[in-house]
Amino acid sequence: MELGPYLLRNGLSRPLIVTDPVVSQLNFLTDLVKDLQNRNISVETFYGIHKNPVKSDVYQGTNVFDEEERDCIVGIGGGAALDVARAITLRIHHREDLFKYDDLKGGDVFVTNEVPHFITIPTTAGTGSEVGRSAIISDDETHQKKILFSPKLLARIVFADPLLTMELPAFITAATGMDALTHNMEAFLVNMFHPMCDGIALKAISLIHNSLERAVNKPDLESRSNMLIASLMGAVAFQKGLGVVHSLAHPLSSLLDTHHGLANAVNIPYGMEYNIEGFEYKFAEIARALHLEDESGETVVKYLFELNDQINIPRKLSAIGVKQEHIETLADLALADFAHPNNPKPVSREDFKKLYLKAL
Ligand SMILES: NC(=O)c1ccc[n+]([C@@H]2O[C@H](COP(=O)([O-])OP(=O)(O)OC[C@H]3O[C@@H](n4cnc5c(N)ncnc54)[C@H](O)[C@@H]3O)[C@@H](O)[C@H]2O)c1
Ligand SMILES: [Fe+2]
Repeated sequence: MELGPYLLRNGLSRPLIVTDPVVSQLNFLTDLVKDLQNRNISVETFYGIHKNPVKSDVYQGTNVFDEEERDCIVGIGGGAALDVARAITLRIHHREDLFKYDDLKGGDVFVTNEVPHFITIPTTAGTGSEVGRSAIISDDETHQKKILFSPKLLARIVFADPLLTMELPAFITAATGMDALTHNMEAFLVNMFHPMCDGIALKAISLIHNSLERAVNKPDLESRSNMLIASLMGAVAFQKGLGVVHSLAHPLSSLLDTHHGLANAVNIPYGMEYNIEGFEYKFAEIARALHLEDESGETVVKYLFELNDQINIPRKLSAIGVKQEHIETLADLALADFAHPNNPKPVSREDFKKLYLKAL
């Protein structure tokens, strides 16, 4: 309940809370809204967002901000809600078509105006979007994911409270936790001189190793805290970039609406196996962070399969609705994805197809 005093200290009294339909019904949100109202803060909540958020969600939230004359934006939820909150923050003073600001087309140069005061409160431990500067929003029709990016979109303050994640269902904890692990492993493998991000990524990998299985099967405050901080660390580390696993995962969300974390979780052992050759020394460092006795890449891959087993993530894509007939389209989408150009090894369309077939 530090939000109310923070808003008042900053002269803010008309927040727009941006969340999702599930989180909007959780007790802590009702309590938070009551607490704000008791402090004479006027609260408006927008929660009409899709599972994989689309542009029209952002436009609707912006209308609420305008009509209700809000003075700041508080994103509360998982990565989806935080992405919409961040995109609304951008849109308030940037009213051209939202995708004009698409970072992949150099649209960040058009982010020239100020943005409203933006606050984030994560309720999942996965994307680390609370400390990010980008929002992933899909086109309503094509479902293609676009990235809106600007340093201006960094939250002014983050309230990262593990108590808000205590009630996360096991399957969401598992999927989001594997997303965090993927961020840290992929960021570490990006071939770039960035010892600070690398150190953060390795420490976060250790935290996840110590905590994810417990957070899923027998959650306590320590495991939840470790996962929340490791997720946030992943988002810091992946300023270096991501890699092949995220490019395998993104098309599953676009085509089949698969949850982002789950898509990464099933693909990560296969993507990591692909990366071993030539980068054995890096896998040895990951193996040490995972406290594995054998430092080979193959042992890291085995560890990933076994971790997935422990947290009920299937080993095969067919178990999450992928069919043979999807493979060609998935391979096209994966090749067009923005993540793999940072992968330490180049990935061709043929490679993507082989990886999908292996994982099927
Ligand atoms: N901006 C970025 O840098 C970035 C990075 C990675 C992923 N993403 C995006 O983030 C999204 C995925 O985010 P996510 O993995 O956090 O999932 P999510 O936001 O979709 O949340 C997963 C589910 O958990 C529910 N939930 C959230 N908090 C809860 C709580 N405390 N208790 C019970 N249920 C709760 C949500 O309602 C939802 O149904 C994707 O859209 C992805 O594209 C963004
Ligand atoms: Fe991710």
